[in-house]
Amino acid sequence: MKLSKKQIQQYEEDGFLFFPGYFSEKEVSILQRELSRLPEGDPGRMVENDNKTVRALHGCHTHSEIFKRLIQHPRLLEPVQQILKELVYLYQFKINMKAAFTGDAWPWHQDYVFWYKEDGMPTPEVVNISIFLDEVNHFNGPLYLIPGSHKEGMVDVEAQIPNSGDKDADWQANVSANLKYCLNQTNVAQMVEKGGMVAPVGPRGSVLFFHGNVAHASVPNISPYDRRIIIITYNSIKNIPISKGKPRPEFLVCQDYVPLQPARDDVLLQQTNGQMIIACS
Ligand code: SIN
Ligand code: MN
Repeated sequence: MKLSKKQIQQYEEDGFLFFPGYFSEKEVSILQRELSRLPEGDPGRMVENDNKTVRALHGCHTHSEIFKRLIQHPRLLEPVQQILKELVYLYQFKINMKAAFTGDAWPWHQDYVFWYKEDGMPTPEVVNISIFLDEVNHFNGPLYLIPGSHKEGMVDVEAQIPNSGDKDADWQANVSANLKYCLNQTNVAQMVEKGGMVAPVGPRGSVLFFHGNVAHASVPNISPYDRRIIIITYNSIKNIPISKGKPRPEFLVCQDYVPLQPARDDVLLQQTNGQMIIACS
């Protein structure tokens, strides 16, 4: 899928693009089924502050054929190559679970500050893609975005949680409800005054592309509806991090810089033997 010139301009202006119902019901069922099959004892698994509800799964593409296919999907890769004007590789793959009644907040932040400070990524020209595995509605903690906030550049916030030397605690501070690099209220109020706020909602299969410096957040999910989203981050092969020390775990930050090639549009529907999946429960 190729973006029009107008869509690219809109992305550059707002820092995001939203496509309701981008993947079909059948494709989403395949992704959901794959999620339910993932192993329990995953090292990239993060729990909520209650110590039991799963908050997020990181790096699941490394042990899932379906998620590996998803990252090569032309409806994701082609627009990203157009936006970044370069070949791209996978930087991060995660599934945020935001479970019904218990899924916790994501405070206001920009993603790039993490990638700059923790990984040494040279520029913020990196694209996130959120794929809705459930309907995202006004009640289950949709992502809030501040349009145009990417144009402010990276706000150089101080780490709120110092590195402890414990490797699990350190990576978890980048993905827990107590985030390491948050925007303060003044930053957010100023950005919102200029750009307002949006919360894209839509059926499962909807897709949101957003810039690495767009300010975003989400509130806890107190509704009875799960809000599971996949977030895939693609980086240009010209923007590979210049490591400042020991890299973060591979399940959090991929170190395979081989450019991804778009697969066929029906890649999720093909069985491993090359036949098409006809029905999916
Ligand atoms: C994120 O900022 O990476 C995710 C936010 C969310 O899942 O609501
Ligand atoms: Mn984020």
